[in-house]
This record gives sequence, structure tokens and C-alpha cells, in this order.
Amino acid sequence: MRKKVIAGNWKMNYNLHQSISFINQLKSEVVKKERNCDIIICPNFVSLSEAKKIIEDSPIKLGAQNIYFEDSGAFTGETSADMIKSAGCEYVILGHSERRTIFNESDELINKKIKQALKNDLLVIFCVGETLDERERGVTYEIVKNQIEQGLRDITAEEIQKIIIAYEPVWAIGTGRNATPEQAQEVHAFIRNLLRTAYGIQLADELIIQYGGSVKPDNAKDLLSQPDIDGALVGGACLKVDSFIGIIESC
Ligand code: PGA
Repeated sequence: MRKKVIAGNWKMNYNLHQSISFINQLKSEVVKKERNCDIIICPNFVSLSEAKKIIEDSPIKLGAQNIYFEDSGAFTGETSADMIKSAGCEYVILGHSERRTIFNESDELINKKIKQALKNDLLVIFCVGETLDERERGVTYEIVKNQIEQGLRDITAEEIQKIIIAYEPVWAIGTGRNATPEQAQEVHAFIRNLLRTAYGIQLADELIIQYGGSVKPDNAKDLLSQPDIDGALVGGACLKVDSFIGIIESC
């Protein structure tokens, strides 16, 4: 049985002081009882090492929102896998639609970043998803298949076990309009089938596929009760302790 994984993608929110205060509050809620899901927070780079200090003795795990694919060198403004690792990260989000669209990240670049993360013993949350236009044109499966195939190019059976896939329909991100549980389940099942073909049934059935896109406490339970939805990648609703805890409670 797959364990649910709830991850909070903070995006570009909270300065260092706000992050410290938020994580302290979140931690005091999280530790109140045993949780039957994994909890990951992904703050901005500036807050990572302080975040690590606060969550050290709690079940909360730490992730970053990006890395560059090179080890080190003249790449002004970039952050390496080794750097986030040294700040205490176990996870990194890669392929997020905001990185794909605003920062022009290609499938090829995302694939390089995934390989770099794995080389540095990081676990990856790899995002895929179609735009509204693509959904309306009926090419959702084609787009998602392509993103999965390109993003996971040359990823071995051993490596895929270190990757969580996050299906995030772009039209549902930050819009308040989530995919219905049925719409999400359809694509999740499609993704799992792609993974079965690539890595075998047994392995694919153990992999975590999260849903992301306007997940809130009031829709989380229905989404998370779908057979192939193994967790959530949460944006807006992870920035308030109450709503993030509400989503965690739905597991
Ligand atoms: P949202 O963002 O929950 O605000 O829609 C999700 C995401 O971008 O990962």
C-alpha cells in the first residue's frame, strides 16, 4: 500500500523571518498527533537551512523548488544540488509549470536536472501537466506522455524509485479551479500505465503520483481517495497552517 505524500510548494513567498515563524507554527500542529502521510515543505532557498534546524526533530521533511544541472561554476544566480543538500534538503521540485512557462525550461533541461538531483542523492518531485488550451484540444494524454518520456529519459528502474510524479494540470494551478477527482484519476491512471510499460507493473504500482492544482482542505479528501492519487503538491493552501494541516488531515 502506497503511503500518501503531502508537499507544500511555497513558491516565491515568505522572507526568512516569516518562514521561521510559519514553520514553528506548522511544526507545533504537525507533532500533535501521529500522521499517516509524509509531509514535505519546500520554502525558498534563503529559508532552507533555518527551516532544517526547526524541523529536525519532527516528521516534516525539506525540499527545494529548483536546482541547476551543473555541479558548480560560473552560473550566476543558480543553486546546485550539492548546495541544497548541504542546507538539509531531501527533495527537490523539478519541471514545475511555472519553471516551464515563465523560465522557458525544456523537457531536455528538466531531464538534466533530474539526473543531477539523483546523482546527488536527492529525491525528486517531477511535475507534468497540460495547459487549458491543450486540454480543450483533446491532447492531454499526448502532452503528459511526452513530458514523462522526455523528462524521464534514461532514468533506470532503480532511479525511478527516487522520483515522485506530480500531475498538475496547468489550468488548475493557482486558479481555484481544481480538476475533478475523476478527471485527475483518469490522468493518474494513464501515467501509472506509462510507468508500468517502462518499469514493470510491480515497480510502477509502488510509485507515488501526486495531484496538484488548487488542492484545498475541502477538496483534498475526494481527490486523495482516488485509487491512483497518492498525495498532493499544494501551492496556495500550504501558506496557511490551518489549510495545510486540513489537507494533511484528509489523508
Ligand atoms: P496551487 O499550486 O495549489 O496554488 O494551485 C500548486 C502548485 O503550483 O504546485
